Amino acid sequence: MINTVKRNQQQSLDHLDDVWLFGYGSLIFKVDFPFLERRPASIMGWARRFWQGSHDHRGTPDQPGRVVTLIEQAGCQCQGMAYRVTPDTFAHLDHREKNGYLRFFAPLTFTDAPDHAPAEALVYVAGPDNAAFLGPAPIEVMARQIATSEGPSGRNSDYLLNLDDALKTMGAEDTHVSELANAVKALL
Ligand code: SIN
Repeated sequence: MINTVKRNQQQSLDHLDDVWLFGYGSLIFKVDFPFLERRPASIMGWARRFWQGSHDHRGTPDQPGRVVTLIEQAGCQCQGMAYRVTPDTFAHLDHREKNGYLRFFAPLTFTDAPDHAPAEALVYVAGPDNAAFLGPAPIEVMARQIATSEGPSGRNSDYLLNLDDALKTMGAEDTHVSELANAVKALL
């Protein structure tokens, strides 16, 4: 139940000059959109999990891969990257994130200025009610699925290892991601 954020998928953003976008998955390491500014940031109350199926990017309908979504978890802080973008950027992003993700406004804290008043940022979340949601599985099962899946955007293992590297480079290591990355490396 998403109760701390405002659902905004249908609302027009055209009245705004710019909007903050919070990225916590491929939006950190695959930046194929223009932005005005980029700053490390975090959101509270959410955990990053490889619980979303990918039939269109890192897997196929027959063999879906696993990509990240956010799961509500009190007290948990998810670190990622915030981008200030113009509203027209969301035409491309909505298409890219189309397999089950909806965007919502959530409060965001900038890592480089934690005392500043939080901004609001759009974040793409694939909730448990979407058709591609896979949910939790034992780490060995997730690792095997990621090690063997591939789709039009490339190998599922590259998605995981690129994300793990990017988070470590930012000083934002996430144990869920790094444990899975270690398990996948052992299989490759
Ligand atoms: C994100 O990166 O913020 C959303 C999930 C993804 O595209 O991997």
